[in-house]
Amino acid sequence: SRSGNYVVAIDGPAASGKSTLARKLASRLGLLMVNSGAIYRAITWEIVRENINPEDSDAVISALEKIDIETGRNGGVSTIRINGVQPGDELRSEVVNSNVSAVSAIPKVREKVVQLLRDHLEHSSLVMEGRDIATIVFPDTPYKIYITAAEHVRAARRHKVGEVDSVKRRDAADSGRKTAPLKVADGAEILDTSDHTIESGVDAAIEILKRQGLDI
Ligand code: DC
Repeated sequence: SRSGNYVVAIDGPAASGKSTLARKLASRLGLLMVNSGAIYRAITWEIVRENINPEDSDAVISALEKIDIETGRNGGVSTIRINGVQPGDELRSEVVNSNVSAVSAIPKVREKVVQLLRDHLEHSSLVMEGRDIATIVFPDTPYKIYITAAEHVRAARRHKVGEVDSVKRRDAADSGRKTAPLKVADGAEILDTSDHTIESGVDAAIEILKRQGLDI
């Protein structure tokens, strides 16, 4: 980038182990960790709170024009405020889980979020995790990893977080949508976390980044 900052893009489906890996990787490398899903979740939370039908894209878009979204950082992790409020644990509530795919499939919503995500790079180098980071948000970054895990491992992780069906539905919607569907970017390396512990997964990610030319 113009600022000399760089991005490590981590994409993959839900329950792949991508969030944990991205968080640990960012802390090992001393980079800001940005969870792009949190922004889609925060917008969804506000849409639901305002009693707007998440499936009504015109209504969502006109509400979005009035929503104030402010990103910041707390230690090594990015934060989000929506109309001055930090939604906190509510970002992972069932009502957000079941409506976030509809809201995030709206092209105008994505345009706005992509801009907010790109703005982070002005301030520091980043690990950013999501679905379209290497394909759309930062297509020029050489550092890109696509995280997967075997179906039975993902199922066990879903059980642990108590959301089996909603994760399946979300993955199908996120992969099948028209705008910025989840897919492996050109040049991304696939990291299967099935047989990894958290620490060995981070080690494997660092080896991939070195192969991709990151000087660490
Ligand atoms: O990573 P997550 O599960 O918190 O993301 C929640 C939802 O947000 C996901 O189901 C789809 C959407 N999302 C997206 O469309 N693009 C991203 N880069 C990140 C998340």
